[in-house]
Amino acid sequence: MTDEHALKERIAAELGAVRERSHGLTTGVLPDEELTAQVSPLMSPLVWDLAHVGNYEELWLLRAAAGADPMRPEIDGLYDAFEHPRAERPTLPLLPPGEAAAYIATVRSKVLDALERARFDSADPLTAGGFVYGMVVQHEHQHDETMLATHQLRAGAPALLEDRAPAPPGPPAPTTEVFVPAGPFIMGSDDPWAYDNERPGHVVDLPAFFVDTEPVSNAAYERFIDAGGYDDPRWWDPRGWEWRRSSGKAAPAFWLREDREWLRRRFGRVEPVPPDEPVQHVCWYEADAYARWAGRRLPTEAEWEKAAGWDPEAARARRYPWGDEWAEDRANLGQRALRPSATGAYAAGASAYGVRRMLGDVWEWTSSDFHGYPGFRSFPYKEYSEVFFGPDYKVLRGGSWATHPLAVRTSFRNWDYPIRRQIFTGFRTARDAR
Ligand code: AVJ
Ligand code: FE
Repeated sequence: MTDEHALKERIAAELGAVRERSHGLTTGVLPDEELTAQVSPLMSPLVWDLAHVGNYEELWLLRAAAGADPMRPEIDGLYDAFEHPRAERPTLPLLPPGEAAAYIATVRSKVLDALERARFDSADPLTAGGFVYGMVVQHEHQHDETMLATHQLRAGAPALLEDRAPAPPGPPAPTTEVFVPAGPFIMGSDDPWAYDNERPGHVVDLPAFFVDTEPVSNAAYERFIDAGGYDDPRWWDPRGWEWRRSSGKAAPAFWLREDREWLRRRFGRVEPVPPDEPVQHVCWYEADAYARWAGRRLPTEAEWEKAAGWDPEAARARRYPWGDEWAEDRANLGQRALRPSATGAYAAGASAYGVRRMLGDVWEWTSSDFHGYPGFRSFPYKEYSEVFFGPDYKVLRGGSWATHPLAVRTSFRNWDYPIRRQIFTGFRTARDAR
């Protein structure tokens, strides 16, 4: 990114686009009572997310980057994710929806003023390449996906319109798994908008492995259910078996059994489970148990990233599986549809190795715990990544249909607790090649 003026125009456009999306999930579609209510203890009231993205923007783009004074210091604590856990947020004196919208709009107009005067200083890691602006745009997109998970949990009549379907399936892939030969690749990224947890790019040498060409489908997952997979401790991690027993769960979240058919509730509509879509709303323990039942295992995150992003001919990593440029017809990203695509779709989005639908559709559980890469340095704050490092979280890769293309890349790392199912998550399996 060389031309500073063009970069600023792009930033302003991306800030505008993400804000339109945020309002389309909140003030544009739900009455105030629904914005301030809590749908689940796992989620914030939507009005919290809305003011939080504006407060974060004020913190980073007005105070940190432009040296401004706090606009409303008395509200900072309310929107600090570490001060108040999600379950507690509905009891806080949050800004009501109208005030929240006015506050974030004021922040935004000051940000656009400051952006015109900003200097992106290559010696200052905060502004070099527009980093801090990219961080704020990605942050709002991340919260938009979180807000979608809140919508999915919410009861009552549908609030979101489904105006587009994902691309239909084309011809099936030639094989159900892909061979990835042994050898080194560069894991991580030095992209100017990459997060600290993706840095530094470093060489990882992997043995050969096979990975599923497509994510595991609902039909395949139903075979695991029908085979009694939920009742056989052989397939489960000991902590997963404990989760299985204490929760009583025996199917993905939002699935309902009607006579002999599985239905699912999706954004307030009940419909048959489509056999060819990736299974969604399963936790890590369920993914891990399925893989063991199938005689396979989850891929490590290094295997996932090599299969998705490495171009062995050019000996370099691609930002997206197919190349470095975003293209609408190559992945089901960006909440254009409210669902994953079916097996056989987006063949043009295959990686150099021929692995399909690595980005978009569903986040994919990997077998890996969330840790810093060798040489990791927290930047610009340790509460984004570093405080979550350790064995409590599993790494998710690839984004979902709800993830914006700016907020995911082949090196992007997400993480969550292994019991979580409200996120738009599925998986694919792998095996050693021997
Ligand atoms: C990267 C999705 C795990 O939502 O907890 C949002 C992103 N960090 N605000 C989260 C995030 C601060 C984070 N995840
Ligand atoms: Fe946040």
